[in-house]
Amino acid sequence: DFCLSRGLGDVYKRQLLSLHFKNKIIQMKSNTVAELLKKDAKSQDIEIKGWVRTFRANRFIALNDGSTLQNIQCVVDFEKTDEAILKRITTGAAVHIKGQLIESQGKGQNVEIAVLSINILGDSDPETYPIQPKKHSFEFLRENAHLRTRTNTFSAVMRLRSSLSFAIHKYFNENGFYYMHTPIITGSDAEGAGEMFRVSNLDAKNPPLNEDGSVNFKEDFFGKETNLTVSGQLEAETFAMSLGKVYTFGPTFRAENSNTSRHLAEFWMIEPEVAFMDLAGNMDLAEDFMKSVLKYVLDNNREDLEFLEQRLLDEEKTKPQAERSEMSLIEKINFVVDNNFKRVSYTEAIDILKNSKPNKKKQFNYIIEEWGADLQSEHERFLVEKHFKCPVILFDYPANIKAFYMRLNEDGKTVRAMDILFPGIGEMVGGSQREERLDVLKAKMKALDIDEEELWWYLDLRKYGTAVHSGFGLGFERLVMFATGMGNIRDVIPYPRTPQNAEF
Ligand code: 4AD
Ligand code: MG
Repeated sequence: DFCLSRGLGDVYKRQLLSLHFKNKIIQMKSNTVAELLKKDAKSQDIEIKGWVRTFRANRFIALNDGSTLQNIQCVVDFEKTDEAILKRITTGAAVHIKGQLIESQGKGQNVEIAVLSINILGDSDPETYPIQPKKHSFEFLRENAHLRTRTNTFSAVMRLRSSLSFAIHKYFNENGFYYMHTPIITGSDAEGAGEMFRVSNLDAKNPPLNEDGSVNFKEDFFGKETNLTVSGQLEAETFAMSLGKVYTFGPTFRAENSNTSRHLAEFWMIEPEVAFMDLAGNMDLAEDFMKSVLKYVLDNNREDLEFLEQRLLDEEKTKPQAERSEMSLIEKINFVVDNNFKRVSYTEAIDILKNSKPNKKKQFNYIIEEWGADLQSEHERFLVEKHFKCPVILFDYPANIKAFYMRLNEDGKTVRAMDILFPGIGEMVGGSQREERLDVLKAKMKALDIDEEELWWYLDLRKYGTAVHSGFGLGFERLVMFATGMGNIRDVIPYPRTPQNAEF
């Protein structure tokens, strides 16, 4: 039909057909381990390519290709195999095996491969290969991040990361949101006071100067000072005010010098923005969204989750009883999916904190004295881990500890902000209803010394058809931390960027 509709002759037709069948054959023959393990073992010819995890007794290869946590056992007939080849079957080598899928003779697997021929695609060096078949520390694996996905833990984490990211796009797609690509290079500072990374191609040694000695950015590539974005929110607002429901999901950058297990200098953020939605709607959306994507991995990534759950249990055995968590990984995820997030105003939270034991006994580093105090992570953790023991949505924060664009409440001192706090993680989401009143927004910017001219387009949204709108930002790596039970954010992103570190 393809050829007919384009008036192509028989020669083309034959070529296309042969190409078609060639592809079919390639598809049929090269299996993944995941596919093979699902097949029933009627002796059938198969081919498989992957990396050797271990080679035991000159006979048993545990082969992994990343398609699943599991290895497939490949049994080599060493009497019929060249001695030189046997020597090259070492941990880390890439091999191409042809053989028969048969019912397993041994315990631990249903099927295995009786090897007919083995071709070494790429040798490894057992002396220097960093990923030996033994337990490695996460610090060591971070230094070998280019190979750490050849371990069970990191392949499981990265498969989950991929799956969560798919679930996020799926959720928004199914709920009528448009995916917007907000710019990565920006001329404005969305959060008002963020620490940003400058983007410039001026000669660092000899930059053009103004008369007063300052750098003349008019001569820079963009004719102005530009930075890597800290958030796509402000641009997302422009699309929300025309397309209605949108979201961004992209990399964001912050040059804050916080060397903690929850901060990265480059992280991925999901930011939905919705016209005609108020703060209550924003909370509903965030809660429904997070439950939905976590449910997705419960349903689709069971094997990896069970492995990571066991890893966490083993790790916790080394900790004192008091520090161990009451729930297993899968129980924790189920708990979040099945229970309502607790909604608490900032004012209520301050009362709880003021009267809490660690505050009265002065165990907090920052003692809560009065309304208006900024919450530190020790306070957030007390609220979610000790007091409420579930995810908490804190809302209506004091205006002066939050960003300029948040909607001022009628009380004149709080804004319609919300933070979602998670047990073990702390702040997962930050969001708000946006200030839609031009005069109020301008007054706020003036008070904070934010240049109106720089954000002329943002103010235009309030001039032409302004309306209530809201959105939030979810730190993707913090979500991956929660879903995998990993304790350090550096271990849930392929190549972490942190102060003094941009290897790979
Ligand atoms: O609370 P933040 O700063 O909010 C914003 O950027 C808003 N513009 C979002 C919006 O309303 N559209 O950041 C949002 C989330 C935080 O709650 C946290 O989960 C994550 O981003 N986050 C980080 N994750 C890793 N490393 C860092 N340095 C992070 N800073 C923030
Ligand atoms: Mg925040």
